Amino acid sequence: MADETRLIRAGGAPRALAKTVGPPIQKGSTVLLPDAAALYDDEHYVTYGRQGLSAHDALREALAVLEGAVGVSLYPSGLAALTGAMLAVLKTGDEVLVTDAIYKPTRRFCDHLLKRFGVKTTYFDPRTAPQALVAGASDKVRMIVMESPGSLSLEMQDMAQVAALAKDRKILTVADNTWGAGLLYKPLDHGVDLSVQALTKYVGGHSDVFMGSAAARDPALVRALTDGVHHMGWSVAPEDAYQMLRGLRTLPLRLARHGESGLAIARGLAVQPEVASVIHPALPGAADHELWARDYSGPCGLFSFVLKPGPEAAVEAFLDALELFGLGFSWGGFESLAIHCDPQLKTRKFKRDYGGPLIRLHIGLEDPQDLMADLRAALSVYARAVG
Ligand SMILES: Cc1ncc(COP(=O)(O)O)c(C=O)c1O
Repeated sequence: MADETRLIRAGGAPRALAKTVGPPIQKGSTVLLPDAAALYDDEHYVTYGRQGLSAHDALREALAVLEGAVGVSLYPSGLAALTGAMLAVLKTGDEVLVTDAIYKPTRRFCDHLLKRFGVKTTYFDPRTAPQALVAGASDKVRMIVMESPGSLSLEMQDMAQVAALAKDRKILTVADNTWGAGLLYKPLDHGVDLSVQALTKYVGGHSDVFMGSAAARDPALVRALTDGVHHMGWSVAPEDAYQMLRGLRTLPLRLARHGESGLAIARGLAVQPEVASVIHPALPGAADHELWARDYSGPCGLFSFVLKPGPEAAVEAFLDALELFGLGFSWGGFESLAIHCDPQLKTRKFKRDYGGPLIRLHIGLEDPQDLMADLRAALSVYARAVG
């Protein structure tokens, strides 16, 4: 044969793969089928790489173990997982109830794309009692979307009770469980139908890979999620799936440290003269503490606090004085981050007076005493700027 042909045939798949601790990062759009009959046998064969190969299978399997799920679908981002879970089951004419504390881009999806396709969204106060929430749902409501704790203001919903009441009305429940990371809280164990998380945050843990997952127990829902991914044509890179699997191995250890340090800093902030209040559900006496203590096995590193009232310029001076906290819109990585939340709260339907500027912190894996010293120094800059 000529070189052209020999070079195309040479160096194909190796005979047998050596066994390593992690799965092989198998790359491929084309999948070669063993015989002609297999070409159209989607029941028994992966026929195209977009369906996912070895690293994707391994990650889906590990996430199913973590979530107590029958099936898990992967998405190119956490936002895509949320929108994907909704698109998988909603149809024109349906209505959805969504917590007012939802991640803002999810709200954008509801207000624009879902609306365009004839699905109506009604936002509910995150602290609405479950009975009132479900009793107030019209017969067109097909889904209730919760995020608990909300990722800025940390209000919680009793997701177990909402799920139980919604089931009686044949309404599906969805949890954005990025705060619980599938470890601190397990939505499916509490009767929630669809557990969604941005793996981008704690599972990835290094602020460098995007991915999301949606997990379900009901085989019909698992099928709907899988079909939704196929219909939309979403796929994730095998290297990224491998990275997420690697993140899962150390998730419990990292989360324990994030949570411990976060709680220590929350306690430290609560006694600072410039701080009006700390919003952290794991703090005894916090508004949602009893609900949190009932359902969660520990905290993560994300919480907020309220500065005593001061002008915008003083809030900016506080943030700019931080040396160890990056200013950035994410969380779940090894590094500490801070943002000012007030501009984002303006889009909410139910405005709440927190009593001063709301600051969100993500506590990373640095030494908590160093972080506290950094916060104390920035708080004294705030005090001077307020005057
Ligand atoms: C609560 C919550 N859900 C979902 C997402 C979306 O994740 P991604 O950035 O992977 O789309 C985020 C991102 O900040 C988030 O905070």
